[in-house]
Amino acid sequence: MALPNSVKIVEVSPRDGLQNEKAMISTAIKVELINRLSQAGFKNVEATSFVSPKWTPQMADAAEVMAQITRRPGTIYSVLTPNIKGFEAAREARADEVVIFGAASEAFSQKNINCSIAESIDRFEPVAAAALAAGLRLRAALSCAFGCPYQGEVPIADVVMVAKRFAEMGCHEIDIADTIGVGTPTRVREVMQAVTEVVDPSRISGHFHDTYGQSLANILASMEVGISIFHTSVSGLGGCPYAKGATGNVATEDVLFMLNGMGIETGIDFDAVVEIGQWMSAQLNRAGGSRAGNAITAKRHA
Ligand code: HMG
Ligand code: MG
Repeated sequence: MALPNSVKIVEVSPRDGLQNEKAMISTAIKVELINRLSQAGFKNVEATSFVSPKWTPQMADAAEVMAQITRRPGTIYSVLTPNIKGFEAAREARADEVVIFGAASEAFSQKNINCSIAESIDRFEPVAAAALAAGLRLRAALSCAFGCPYQGEVPIADVVMVAKRFAEMGCHEIDIADTIGVGTPTRVREVMQAVTEVVDPSRISGHFHDTYGQSLANILASMEVGISIFHTSVSGLGGCPYAKGATGNVATEDVLFMLNGMGIETGIDFDAVVEIGQWMSAQLNRAGGSRAGNAITAKRHA
């Protein structure tokens, strides 16, 4: 299949990138990160999570973050909502898109949201119905689609089954997530292909954590089977507190460098993103986590 001419990038660093940080990050820095990202041209920024603050303390200021950002017209601000309580808070906060999040692995579902896959579907159905009735965009994340830190192998049929349920709920997009970054291109192609047999590829995205350095190859493999939405995080920040050994999402800078080089449009200002990555890394007192971002920065300083 021909590669896409353009790709939609969902920037997830304010949520996935920061949720795993142990030291509390100020609301002001989170707000600045989101504002810088929207100014750089991202049309979809995953801003925060309306989850239990006992489970993910870093996201406890979700309402404040949403109240303080400067909304750029045309930018979709997404938030995670595990249940109706989260949905109501998200609606109050004027989120544009809510994200329900389930898994293809029973063990991970229990660890992350404290219920079975079947229970999670029952819990998501009223959230999905309420979101659609309110005219909000609805997205679903499907974790452990390529492997699970607790159960290991995850059958493709389990991924397809959950993706189908999400599609039936009316999700505009379904994120096929490599929570622990173990997928390799052949498997990624197989999983994505199987999912596209039940859900139109225009509704599917790839959410790759880069733990084993496979994400760029996996994005290319996904594009080869018709996927054109990907999640990325500046400087490769990220990880899930409930996925043992998970590291950050694929770095936005690296993905943009690859897509720009291939002539695939994103509408995003690469130079601005390199600066955001360096700035955010400095806020966290660490070196930049993007190969492309660090190379460009070194060249600028030379
Ligand atoms: P639970 O303990 O089973 O739920 O947690 P509960 O209903 O018994 O509630 C426990 C307490 O949380 C109660 O407070 C509730 O009010 C409160 P208490 O009475 O004890 O004071 N509560 C909430 N507070 C605020 N907002 C809410 C909310 N819901 C309940 N929405 C629950 C179940 C789902 C709430 C919990 O397990 C949870 O919050 N899990 C989220 C964990 C998380 O944030 N994980 C990371 C995000 S997912 C991810 O990173 C993967 C992804 O990137 C894709 C990939 O890479 O795979 C998306
Ligand atoms: Mg993730």
